[in-house]
Amino acid sequence: MNGYNIMRLDVLTLFPEIFTGYLSQSLLKLAIGRSLVEVPLHNIRDWAIGKHRTVDDRPFGGGPGMVLKPEPVVEAVEAVQQMATSPGHLVMLTPQGRRLDQTVVEQLASHKRLLLLCGRYEGFDQRISDLLEPDEISIGDYILNGGEVAAMAIIDAVIRLVPGVLGDQESNQQDSFSPNLFAHQQRVLEHAQYTRPREYRGQAVPEVLLNGDHGQVARWREQNSLERTRDRRADLLNRKKQ
Ligand SMILES: C[S@@+](CC[C@H](N)C(=O)[O-])C[C@H]1O[C@@H](n2cnc3c(N)ncnc32)[C@H](O)[C@@H]1O
Repeated sequence: MNGYNIMRLDVLTLFPEIFTGYLSQSLLKLAIGRSLVEVPLHNIRDWAIGKHRTVDDRPFGGGPGMVLKPEPVVEAVEAVQQMATSPGHLVMLTPQGRRLDQTVVEQLASHKRLLLLCGRYEGFDQRISDLLEPDEISIGDYILNGGEVAAMAIIDAVIRLVPGVLGDQESNQQDSFSPNLFAHQQRVLEHAQYTRPREYRGQAVPEVLLNGDHGQVARWREQNSLERTRDRRADLLNRKKQ
C-alpha cells in the first residue's frame, strides 16, 4: 500500500482496445503500477442481447446514421456501478454537455470513482440521459467520431490532480488555469519558460531569470503571466474567481 486513496475511472465503450496503448505509457502506466489509479475497461456490447449483439438502430423519424440503443447502455452502466463498493459519478461524453475546463476537471477529481460513458455513431438515445441523469461533458465545440478521445482527455487531466501521481506535488499548482499559480488566485496562463542554452539563434533568455534573485524572478513571472493572459485569453481575466 502507498498511503494514498486509489482513484477508479471505469470506462464504458464499444472500442476498449483504443485505450490499451494509452494506458500502458508514461504517467498513467506509473500511476496504475503504483496503485494510485485504476482504469477498468468495459465493452458495452457485452450487455447487448441477440445473435448479433446489436447496440445501435436507425433513428425514429428518419435521418442519417445510427443511434445507440437504450437497453445495452443503461444495463451496462447499472452493472458497472455494482462492480465496486460505492457507485461512481457518471460522466456522459457528448458535444452537447457542459464544457470541460480546469474547474470542471477539479470537480471530477474530487470524486473517488468516475464512470466515463463513451458514445459512437449519431450518439445516445435520449432516454439514456433521462434515466441515468449523467453529468454530460463536452471537450469542445467540435464533433469527434466517438467519446473515447474525450474520455482520455478527462483521464489525462484528472490524474494530474490525484495525490501522488505527479513526482513534484506542487507542479500542478504551477500550471496555466490553476487558481494557485499566483496569490491573486485568478486563473491565468503560465509565464514563458526557458531552458539552456542561454542564447539560441540570437534569441537570449531574459536576464532577470539568470541573476539568481528569486524575488525578481517571481515578480517577472507574474507580470509575464498577466501580459500573455491579457494578449491571448483576456476572457480569463474577466471571469469571476471560482
Ligand atoms: C459523431 S458524435 C455524435 C454527435 C451528435 N450527433 C450531435 O450532433 O450532438 C459520436 C459520439 O462522440 C462523442 N463526442 C463527439 N464530439 C464530442 C465532444 N466534443 N465532446 C465529448 N464527446 C464527443 C460523443 O460520445 C458522441 O456520442
